[in-house]
Amino acid sequence: MDIPAHILDAVHTSSDTSLPVRASSPKPSNRKVSSRARFTKSRSARSSADDISSLSSESEQEHGYQTDFTSLPSDSSPEDMQPDDVEDFRDREYPQLKGKTYLDHGGTTLYARSLIEEFSSDLITNLYGNPHSASTPSAIAGHRVDAIRERTLRFFGADPDEFDLVFVANATAAIKMVIDCFKDYAAATNTPVWYGYHKDAHTSLVGVREATKMHRCFSSDEEVENWISSGGFGGPRARQLGLFAYPGQSNMTGRRLPLSWCGRIRKSFHKAATYTLLDAAALASTAPLDLSDTATAPDFVALSFYKIFGFPNVGALIVRKASEHVLASRKFFGGGTVDMIISLQDTWHAKKEGALHNRLEDGTLPFHSIFALDHAMTVHERLYGPNPMKFISHHTAQLGKLLFDGLTLLKHSNGSPLCTIYKDDVAVYGDPSLQGATVAFNVVKGDGTMVGYEQVEEAADERNIYVRSGSLCNPGGMASYLGWSPSEMRAAYAAGHRCTNPTQIMFGRPTGVVRVSLGAMSTAADVRTLLHFLEDVYIDNKVGEPRAAVAQALQMARTVQASTGPRPSSPMTPASPGHMPLHYQSHASQQLPGSENTPGVQPESALGMDPERPRFVPADYIGYRKPWKEEMRKAQYANPTVGMEIKIRELDDASSRNPTPSVKARKFGRSVVNLLRTKQHVQDGSAANARPPLPVPPSPLLPPDPMPGVSSVSERSRRSYEKAQFRQNVEALGM
Ligand SMILES: Cc1ncc(COP(=O)(O)O)c(C=O)c1O
Repeated sequence: MDIPAHILDAVHTSSDTSLPVRASSPKPSNRKVSSRARFTKSRSARSSADDISSLSSESEQEHGYQTDFTSLPSDSSPEDMQPDDVEDFRDREYPQLKGKTYLDHGGTTLYARSLIEEFSSDLITNLYGNPHSASTPSAIAGHRVDAIRERTLRFFGADPDEFDLVFVANATAAIKMVIDCFKDYAAATNTPVWYGYHKDAHTSLVGVREATKMHRCFSSDEEVENWISSGGFGGPRARQLGLFAYPGQSNMTGRRLPLSWCGRIRKSFHKAATYTLLDAAALASTAPLDLSDTATAPDFVALSFYKIFGFPNVGALIVRKASEHVLASRKFFGGGTVDMIISLQDTWHAKKEGALHNRLEDGTLPFHSIFALDHAMTVHERLYGPNPMKFISHHTAQLGKLLFDGLTLLKHSNGSPLCTIYKDDVAVYGDPSLQGATVAFNVVKGDGTMVGYEQVEEAADERNIYVRSGSLCNPGGMASYLGWSPSEMRAAYAAGHRCTNPTQIMFGRPTGVVRVSLGAMSTAADVRTLLHFLEDVYIDNKVGEPRAAVAQALQMARTVQASTGPRPSSPMTPASPGHMPLHYQSHASQQLPGSENTPGVQPESALGMDPERPRFVPADYIGYRKPWKEEMRKAQYANPTVGMEIKIRELDDASSRNPTPSVKARKFGRSVVNLLRTKQHVQDGSAANARPPLPVPPSPLLPPDPMPGVSSVSERSRRSYEKAQFRQNVEALGM
């Protein structure tokens, strides 16, 4: 079979273990080129026991591990890229950004034009079949998938002899695959699963706890450190199977968590086998993830490629081969994962042999998307240099610092800060080993009242600035940074607050944040646009020079660029768990139900009142929803069609005012379309192959319907009526 040249190229590239490196740079002062998030190289290991013996001493292990994102590599070169270089190719490669300021790279980053062009030309020029078939086009597709799998492992510094990569839909699917396999392994070996996770975990990691009764949420790094130092006390017991999961980077604050935990857990837990799952979805988007040391690498890594390259929408579960046996007893099988199945008169099957991915990738792989991944890596290297993630880490760290400093410097004329920033005490913007290029904040007016986070998102959106707001699928982060207790959260829910339909401010406190996240193709101009927007819209400019804060932030950023090493954090004390911002404490006063204030904004009259928290009465806060939402909800309960009309009216109003529909209008639009679709679907179904309607069980709350023609219901006549009803229902169901 003739294999096309580009596929041979891919195979060739993937077997080249050394990443291309250029010669050295003489400009250390203003160029902090960051290196990989390292699981440091050491002797390779095949099992946990070998891993332990391969480490000669504790101190070697402790010091062998580095998370060195900041040091200047000796092999950097004058031709290495500068952060400003992004501006040179941004218009050409990211034309979708023209006139727009995209600041939601944590949601998804953006794909380059070259990636789409090269991918489409690949598909147009070549004939690919389903990799499960045996024809030449299918064999080519299969070979190519394998080559890309290997290349992707090398992208993360993972040796294909030591790691396997399972293609999945996204990071969430990777996480789910791990726990599904754990459950099956636990059932097969009669070992219950214990699950531990860090409070900064994304919802997709939190949900894993539902698979077991034994779970623990670690509320701080310190708690994890103590747990590790104690050899796992308070974790899984003997004859239990442990899984500890945490995000490499918080998707809320952008804080980067220690990568050393995985190796240390493997080394020091002897009572019960405890495996580690690193959720690298947020971390890998702007940091180089290096799995070159199997001894200290996580057992399992989950990630989504659209967060790194913008496209394709595929994810991966990277598995350390020494730990893959835990995933190997998965019960479910789908097409492509079995070699033989008997389904008639017997139930026997044989799973595919060989690499783990053969047994875990159910059905046809998204092979076209996997080809796009190949182009994505090539284009990334072309745009961002031979070590693209290194450059991106450096570039975004600088911009993140600029953003943080700028937000910190924005002050009202009375000197009060415009933004309450949620930042961990240990995080330092500009130091990529501790902090990614994400800032979570809320906007506070000069009088101390808070602006609803959705309002900020909508106001930004109207100016073509795109940020994310809400609770961001980070329940632990929201609770700790915003100071919500479990009972308050339950009460907020009872009062009608929902992640998807939030009450933005309850009890004088925000229920979410505004999140700005930067990516590879972000520029200083993007940061400036955001700062100017916040300054123009929310700062009272009665005193002071307009734009002064932004100019000062830029000046500071230049100074930082010229200095080496991380700097202490800025003078303003940002909010962090256990450190409620001062203006919260002094203004955490009651937003009095029934007052005339704007919904979602703390009333001025409440300022400076008793700093002690008033009693929380959830029902009182229902009135603080947006009035149209309340109206819609009520109308929808009464008559679903009216509810839709209100949404449509709102949409029409919004579009007549503004040719670009706002976030709110778009959300309406989506729900209207979904509702109509559901209705349409139901109607279609009833018209065509309608099933008889199911009998509706009588409500336990309502008195039984009076029988036709029977005024007072005697017990006997009631029973005979029920029997007749039952017969009717059985007939209607065709039984
Ligand atoms: C840290 C983290 N984990 C998990 C996820 C879930 O990723 P996906 O939706 O691609 O499955 C995200 C998404 O934003 C994330 O930021």
